[in-house]
Amino acid sequence: MTTTLAPQEVGHLIGGEWVGSGTAERYNPAHPGELVSVTAVGDASTVEAAVAQPEWSNRTGPARAAVLTRAAELLTVRADRVAVDLVREEGKTLTEATGEVQRAAEVLRFFGAACWRADGETLPSATPFTAVYTRREPLGVVGVITPWNFPIAIPSWKIAPALAAGNTVVAKPAQLTTLSTRRLAECLAEAGLPAGVLNLVHGSGALVGEALVAHPDVAAVSFTGSGPVGRRIHGLASERMARVQLEMGGKNPLVVLDDADPVRAATIAAAGGFGLTGQACTATSRLIVTPRILDAVVEELANIAVRRYLPGDGLDPEAQMGPVVSDGQLTSNLRYLELAKAEGGDVVTGAHAAQGLYQTPAIVTGVTSGHTLAREEVFGPVVAVMAVNDLDEAIAVANDVPFGLSAGVVTNDLRAAHQFAAQIAAGVVKVNRPTSGLDLNVPFGGIKESSTNTYREQGQGALDFYTWTKSVYVGID
Ligand code: UN1
Repeated sequence: MTTTLAPQEVGHLIGGEWVGSGTAERYNPAHPGELVSVTAVGDASTVEAAVAQPEWSNRTGPARAAVLTRAAELLTVRADRVAVDLVREEGKTLTEATGEVQRAAEVLRFFGAACWRADGETLPSATPFTAVYTRREPLGVVGVITPWNFPIAIPSWKIAPALAAGNTVVAKPAQLTTLSTRRLAECLAEAGLPAGVLNLVHGSGALVGEALVAHPDVAAVSFTGSGPVGRRIHGLASERMARVQLEMGGKNPLVVLDDADPVRAATIAAAGGFGLTGQACTATSRLIVTPRILDAVVEELANIAVRRYLPGDGLDPEAQMGPVVSDGQLTSNLRYLELAKAEGGDVVTGAHAAQGLYQTPAIVTGVTSGHTLAREEVFGPVVAVMAVNDLDEAIAVANDVPFGLSAGVVTNDLRAAHQFAAQIAAGVVKVNRPTSGLDLNVPFGGIKESSTNTYREQGQGALDFYTWTKSVYVGID
């Protein structure tokens, strides 16, 4: 299926105006000749213009709630159109994109409702006739740097709590996917968000990202993306004692124990490994399996890969898995498969499909802890299968990586499930569910090199990140 949509201009959003003409071209990963958007490219002066603090923090909670809730309604009404934009710039299937847009709207609704809740606590004082309470104060201007793989949901779950808490935001979306973030900003503006409360700046991490993180008036930075960039942000922000929240990579294990049903296990592994073209930091990338069920799980996974994850244009109703996001990403994925072979792995399935940026799902067996594929994040539809003898060895192998984001186990053994949950080094644990897929009200984040492991994203954790606590003593005698 081809579309005839004209390329969209995406400017910076500064002080309520769309400014700057586009030079960065984004082509549809499903049709590499089809121009989707042309985006402005800024520098440090763009960030300087965007960092401002218009009146917003002194709006009441219910007034802020009205804006977020109205934006959620607008995005819901537009979901079908926005999902098409998202597919054309990022590549995922229309079903996945529609789910993502709906998620972004739900997040706005959730944090809109949160504006109505009490935002502090009352405490007893040791001094007689003294009332003590706390106020949650906004931090001021916050920076948000988001990746291309969830180009509307992640901006929504970083921006919505920041606004709910009374902050103003300067957001830098990934250069590959500026259009979806623009759609989110349009809904907020039309819902009545005052000019300048949400600003968007575009450009490279080196120029625009660094200027944002280093800006003395930016009180906090929330980032999702790669480990090396996260470490750089951490250094810059910490140097000036700005608050920082980082969500980086994963090498997420799914452990399958002998008592599991192999079809169910393979279905869960495929959803986590191949859904979203494997382009999620929560994707299943290691399948760690005990001996009696190993062959059956691999066989079922290979069947499912062929039958249910046929790559194609995300707008084509027949497509079950979208293309890889870019040429560079596809080259990197295929290089990992070559390396896996050279290191002794067996690539059961998973090749570069005929044209464009399509890759069929890859399953590599015979992987052990020392292999590159067992340690480094690929960020594509590639599952490394690792054989282990029992649950204890499975947990040891699962924990033997620098990451600790999401982890799953497939078993009906209650004791084994609880042991896994207690001993696995991961911020999110799933029993009989795919490693990817999050509820918007549940704390999200990892340990080790996956996350700063300070403030969680989503739910109350997000509001904690974007506020500080002031303690007030009032003599009442
Ligand atoms: C999910 O698994 O539903 O960038 C979301 C990412 C993660 C979000 C995962 N921060 O992939």
